[in-house]
This record gives sequence, C-alpha cells and structure tokens, in this order.
Amino acid sequence: MSYSILGLVNTDKMLHDALVGNYAVPAFNFYNMETLTAILSATHQTHSPVILAVSESAIKYMGFNMLMGLISGAMITPDQQIAMHLDHGSSYEACITAIDMGFSSVMIDASKLPLQQNIALTRRVVEYAHKHNVSVEAELGVLSGIEDENTKSEYSSYTNPQDVVQFVSATNVDSLAIAIGTSHGAYKRKSDNEALRFDILDAVAQKLPNLPLVLHGASSIPENLVQTINKFGGHMPNARGISPKQLRQATKRNICKINVDSDLRLAQTSAIRKYMAENPSDFNPRNYLNAGITAMTQICIDEIKNIMGSENKLK
Ligand code: G3H
Ligand code: 13P
Ligand code: ZN
Repeated sequence: MSYSILGLVNTDKMLHDALVGNYAVPAFNFYNMETLTAILSATHQTHSPVILAVSESAIKYMGFNMLMGLISGAMITPDQQIAMHLDHGSSYEACITAIDMGFSSVMIDASKLPLQQNIALTRRVVEYAHKHNVSVEAELGVLSGIEDENTKSEYSSYTNPQDVVQFVSATNVDSLAIAIGTSHGAYKRKSDNEALRFDILDAVAQKLPNLPLVLHGASSIPENLVQTINKFGGHMPNARGISPKQLRQATKRNICKINVDSDLRLAQTSAIRKYMAENPSDFNPRNYLNAGITAMTQICIDEIKNIMGSENKLK
C-alpha cells in the first residue's frame, strides 16, 4: 500500500524545514489507540508536524492489520505533516515489510555491526525505500538501554565523526542518528550534571551541514511523573533523563528529530496509578485509560513547546 493513500508524508520536507528552522520534529512512539490518540491530539493542538514511531515489538503487539486499521481510522491528511516511521528496524526484511505495508519512513538500525556491514545493509534498504519515496534513517554509534525486545544493548559507543561522511555518501541515507550520550529507558544518567557530547554533535554537523541528525533515547524523565509513580505504589528509584535545556540546545545544532517513548510511558503509568489509587471501586477501564490519554497528551504538548520547538511549524 502506498502511504499517500493514508494521508501520510515521508520525513524529507519536515526534517529539512526543522534543520533550517533550528527546531526538531518530535518522534513519539505509539502502540495502541490510547497512545495514538494522545499524540495526534497534542500535535493537532500545537500545530506541529510529527513522526509516529512504531517499533518492531509494537508491531508484534498490535499486529499489522490492527496497526493499519488504527492509522486509516485516524483520517490523516497530508497538510498535517504526519509520517509513520519504523523505529529501530533490525533487518532488511523488517524495513521492506514496513514499506510495503504503508510506512512512509524507516530506520535501519545496523549500528552494532562493523562499519562496512552497516553501510552495505543500509545501502540496500535505501535503494528499495527510495524507489517507493520512503525516507531512511540509519545509526552510527551505539546507545545503551533497551531499543527493542530483540536489541538490548548493555554498552554504548559514541559516534565517530571520522566515519560520517563516508557512511552518508556510500549509503545515500536521508537522516542519521548519532550517539552523544543519550540512552534508552528511564535510567539514563547517574547525576544531573552529566552533559551530552556537543563536541561530537558539532563535529558531525560541521562535516554534514545539510543532513538532518537524530537523537534517540531523548526522554527527559520528568521528576514529577516519577514521584507520582513512586507515591502510588510504583518503584522507580533513581530514574533520571536528559535535561530539557540540553535537548533544546541540541535542536539548535542540527538535531532535527528527537525520539521520545519513555516519557509517554511514565505519564500514562503515573496517571493510571493515581486514578486507581484514588478511585478504588471504579473498575471501568475507560476511565483510567482516559486519565492516561490526558496525561500523555499533556507531556507531548509540553515537550513540543519547550523541547522540540516545533509548535506552529506546520506549513
Ligand atoms: O527505542 C525504542 C523504543 O522505546 C521502543 O521500545 O521496543 O519496547 O516498543 P519497544
Ligand atoms: P526514550 O527511552 O528516551 O524515550 O527513547 C525513545 C527512543 O529512542 C525510541 O527510538
Ligand atoms: Zn531509539
């Protein structure tokens, strides 16, 4: 299926607009009606473009048919500038299947392979994707944390700026995820003082000034959400994210796409825990799920305004 039938667009224009405009397009992960509703409501209220990120485990959870039914039911139109993107595609086959199903953008994550193998696999995906007008993101450098049920990484390695020009010219990739100190999940750093490696970001941006760069593992893990979770029966000691100030700074330096999943998980979990604790006799799931949608919508709006800078960027 061609993604244009679904009203989706690829990420080319939105990311280049973001590069020129010094902001980032949010890539929020969804995996059910509630997450999709919250993301679409937030981007609608803020007039922001958005990338709907879907991981392989989210596809497994929903099933392709249900996923495509949700997207077609969302009645998306091209003027909304919404892309649907495979997050951390782990193989050529996963990317090709996503493209054939109607995704408008894919990430091939071969970042754990040696450079030449990463190049070879990425190039094959780009060749197929570009024939279908689908944009491709690749990754150089490794982030620690859980990228997917199947791709758990306990180590990280920063992107080597010396590799990027060769990688991009050999693959013709449309955007590049780089590792500058972020990581997936809710336990990103030991102290608030740990800074991102802006020197690496600047070196990559200097070598590739026209290429949109991507930051994964960029949840800020708001303290109030963690506190609410812990207050209402959860146990997430020492959860800590990336400071919003540093993320905002990154958008001024060629980071054009910022990936956030954990913050929505926290918002939803905290709201549901609180609702259940305060309404012990209510067993109507629509009520606590709605509390979750409201909290996720709010965190998306806050981050669009205060981190991404993508409010009112629809054109
Ligand atoms: O970067 C990975 C995302 O947070 C997706 O996580 O595979 O559990 O859906 P997931
Ligand atoms: P977080 O775990 O920081 O939300 O990262 C999400 C992500 O990178 C999805 O690809
Ligand atoms: Zn990621």
